[in-house]
Order: sequence, then C-alpha cells, then structure tokens
Amino acid sequence: MTKEKILVIGASGQIGVELTLALRNLYGNNNVIASDLREQNPLLEGTGPYVSLDVMNKEMLHVQVIRQNITQIYLLAAILSATGEKNPNLAWHLNMQGLLNVLDIAREEHIHKVYWPSSIAVFGPTSPKQNCPQQTIIEPSTVYGISKYAGEFWCNYYHQRFGVDVRSLRYPGLISYKSAPGGGTTDYAVEIYLEALTEKKYECFLQEDTYLPMMYMPDAIRATIELMEAPKSNINVRTSYNLSGMSFSPKEIALSIKQHIPEFEITYKPDYRQEIANSWPQSIDDSSANKDWGWKPQYNLQSMTEDMLTNLKS
Ligand code: NAD
Ligand code: SER
Repeated sequence: MTKEKILVIGASGQIGVELTLALRNLYGNNNVIASDLREQNPLLEGTGPYVSLDVMNKEMLHVQVIRQNITQIYLLAAILSATGEKNPNLAWHLNMQGLLNVLDIAREEHIHKVYWPSSIAVFGPTSPKQNCPQQTIIEPSTVYGISKYAGEFWCNYYHQRFGVDVRSLRYPGLISYKSAPGGGTTDYAVEIYLEALTEKKYECFLQEDTYLPMMYMPDAIRATIELMEAPKSNINVRTSYNLSGMSFSPKEIALSIKQHIPEFEITYKPDYRQEIANSWPQSIDDSSANKDWGWKPQYNLQSMTEDMLTNLKS
C-alpha cells in the first residue's frame, strides 16, 4: 500500500488546527504537512511540518504537491459568510479559484483523495426550515453560499469527468475552544462561552429565537475522518453530504451556560448577520450520511456546554 502524505491548506484556522492534529495522530506527524497563508498556529508548533502557502498561487501549490509527494489534500482555506458579505468579490475569488487550483492539481498528479468542506449556507430562504433534506430547493442568498453551491458542482464534475475522489460535508456552524473562528454568522456560539467566563455577560448579534444547525468540533473532526476513511463504493453523494449535530437558539445556549454560571446575562443587538441567519434552515436531515457511511453525532447542547466551559477554564 502506498504511504499517504497529506497536505492541509488553511491549517491555522478554526477547523484546520484540530483536523491537522487528528490527521497527524492517524497518519504520523511527518506525513501531514500543515500549510496556511498566515503564520503557524501555536498549537501546531512542534507537532509536524509546516509550509507557508497561498492556495491562489497555483504554481507554488503544484511545486509543493510534487516536492512533498502529496497523495491527499484537505482544502480548508475560504472566506466565511459574514466576512464574505463585506467583500463579495474576494470571497468568490478565493472560494472558487482556490478549489479549482486544487482540483486541477489533484487531476494532474493523480492525488488519491481530496477533502473540501461545503456548508449549510448553500441553503437559502426557499429551502425547508426544518430537517432540510439532502436534495431540495437550493437558492443561496449570500456570496459564501453561492460559492459553496458552485463548488459542490465543481467537485461533482471533477469526480464524474476525471475520476478525482473528492469528498465533502455541508458543515453546520462549528463550536470549538482550541482555535478562534474566522468570520462566520454562527460564531456567536463560540464567543458566548468566552465572554460568559471572562465578563459574565454577552451581547449577541442574533435575535434570541434564531435557531441554527450547529455542531461541536470533536463531532465535526470525527465526521470528516469517517467520510474520508469510508470505502469509495459507499460514497454516493459527490456534491456534498448534509451533516447534522444539534440545533439551538441564542436563548437556549445562554440557558445552558446559566446552569454552570448562574450570574451570566445575555442581551441582544442583531446586526447584518441576522439576515444571513434567517436565510438558513434551522435543522438538517443527514440521513444520507447515516445510510452511506454510518454518521451519528455524539454531542448535544448540554454535553457541549459542559466540555467547552471545562476546557476554556483550564
Ligand atoms: P478559518 O477562517 O478559521 O480558517 C481558514 C484558514 O484559511 C485561515 O487560517 C486562513 O489564514 C487560511 N487562508 C485564507 N486564505 C488563504 C490562502 N489564499 N491560502 C492559504 N490559506 C489561506 O475557517 P474555518 O472555520 O476553519 O473553515 C474551514 C472551511 O470549513 C472553510 O471552507 C469553511 O467555509 C468551512 N466551514 C466552516 C464552518 C465553521 O463553522 N467554521 C462551517 C461550515 C463550513
Ligand atoms: N459557520 C459558517 C458561517 O457562519 C457556516 O458555514 O459562515
């Protein structure tokens, strides 16, 4: 069997840090090359190789893939929903061209597997709000959602046309304590824990009853690895799999925090991100992921709050 050599692009971000560490556990530290435009995240220091890399520079990316004998690529570099609305051209450019650069190189170099995340942001105001199905009306209203939906079809195209084994998940909003989130609409659910511990209060940029699909990072990392390790014949969705963890509102997460920090208070001052949140479903049907590769989430709001507060305190 060929030894796998993995390149993670965007490794210093919220998902990248934890995914790189998990892949290093699985494949060996030296077989997972972390890369990013910005400096290496301190949590990655000393755990394995790091290269500075701009995914938009296709030539340099290609050189690295050949020089390091890369066999798998995880592409995490992107501009997320809230930042994307501030600079739509930049978001479209990075999210699309970055993916096309990776898919082209994967095809030319016969890369074994590519991972690229999509998002619940592909869904728009006309999609069903509850248990939003895998296949349904999809009319995204953010540039981020448009780029993710187009990206899903590029993945499907490279698989159908060139046989590239590219796999994808529509992540819900991800909550984690190891590395900071990067400009998403769901980031309130990370900020709230930090502010609860330090300030005992939090001003939320979404209304109290805004339900969104969410997931705790350990579940997201496990889902990614389970998808990537699944036999090729099990992967029936070549756009991107719906993925579900939990669904809650700012009011509910505040109540779960209050059980641990009774003096915690939340106030609400919705901004432009409210409109983005309103365009997304409140919960997701991930039965295809369950059927094809056995996906089951482990964390709920209560167990996530306990774990987040314990880890942030220490
Ligand atoms: P993030 O913003 O925390 O990390 C992205 C990383 O990419 C950053 O470290 C950034 O420096 C790097 N990057 C940006 N431009 C680059 C370039 N040109 N070349 C190389 N690196 C570059 O994002 P994240 O939350 O870790 O998200 C990773 C992926 O998962 C994205 O595709 C995102 O759309 C998707 N996703 C995330 C969430 C979430 O809640 N975090 C939910 C759904 C989907
Ligand atoms: N968490 C992401 C965002 O809010 C969803 O893709 O942008």
